[in-house]
Amino acid sequence: MVFPEYRPRRLRRNSSFRSLIRETHLHTSQLVYPLFIMPGKKVRQEVPSMPGVFRLSIDQLASEAKELLALGINSVILFGLPEHKDAMGSGAHAKNGIIQKAIRELKNKSPGLLVITDVCLCEYTDHGHCGCLIDEEVDNDATLEILAKTAVSHAQAGADIVAPSDMMDGRVAEIRASLDENYFDMIPIMSYAVKYSSAFYGPFRDAADCAPQFGDRRSYQMDPANSREALREATLDVAEGADFLMVKPAVAYLDIISKLRDEFDLPIAAYHVSGEYAMIKAAAEKGWIDGERVMQETLLSIKRAGADIIITYFAKDMARLLR
Ligand code: PBG
Repeated sequence: MVFPEYRPRRLRRNSSFRSLIRETHLHTSQLVYPLFIMPGKKVRQEVPSMPGVFRLSIDQLASEAKELLALGINSVILFGLPEHKDAMGSGAHAKNGIIQKAIRELKNKSPGLLVITDVCLCEYTDHGHCGCLIDEEVDNDATLEILAKTAVSHAQAGADIVAPSDMMDGRVAEIRASLDENYFDMIPIMSYAVKYSSAFYGPFRDAADCAPQFGDRRSYQMDPANSREALREATLDVAEGADFLMVKPAVAYLDIISKLRDEFDLPIAAYHVSGEYAMIKAAAEKGWIDGERVMQETLLSIKRAGADIIITYFAKDMARLLR
């Protein structure tokens, strides 16, 4: 049937029709809110390039968790700014490291909140790379052991899910084996399986103080031009034991999310990253776009592409809108 017998506009006539046939829905329970944890007391410091996002000291976490749960946001992902950095990123797996303390605080005060931890070394190394170096190159195999130790230390502190974001080869298998050896066989791995070397991470690197001191991350993060390689990366991570696959960034890589959705049956997370957030905030502040509508449309596009879970700095704003 074609026009004039068939008229697609019939089903768009009013909001009841539109909601009746709506194909994609955002749910607050599938949004994950990133938290940046700082040393010190009573710190609540707004990130200049990320309006509305704050770096928090540990004493602020209980009230933050309460606010999130009240909004219906059940999950957070943690990033730490340690007091000291060194060449090996040893602060990443310190028993009393910033993240380990933050996990214990959150699990103590808000046991209902699901705590995901970012497993990476770039916030903990003095050179800012995601692994340890030999000369000026990130040494893959030596880094694996440190990452596995870090994941185990997060699990020991009470983390619910570990999320390796370093892009070393073989890290999912190494982390899985170490978790299992330490009786954490029930702790899932959310692998940043497909993480591109992206300029959209700019504001995050300010927030987490983790910009590389020399060079860039192109020898371990993926080339933005590649999509077949994304399937290869995801296939490897599934074989190594990943429980979730993540694509990052999100909006510039909707095609990749969609491909992964078609090829794999694991839950897929998409990271709507700092630069993607900052651009919307900045344009909205200038009055050039309707920030709220662009936020909603953007998150919907990520869901429509096939993501189950969205990690986003907009989680609170979106949760308020969904209520
Ligand atoms: C750590 C890490 C980064 C992000 C998440 N984990 C930075 C990077 O790889 O440079 C970026 C998140 C964002 O931009 O919001 N490796």
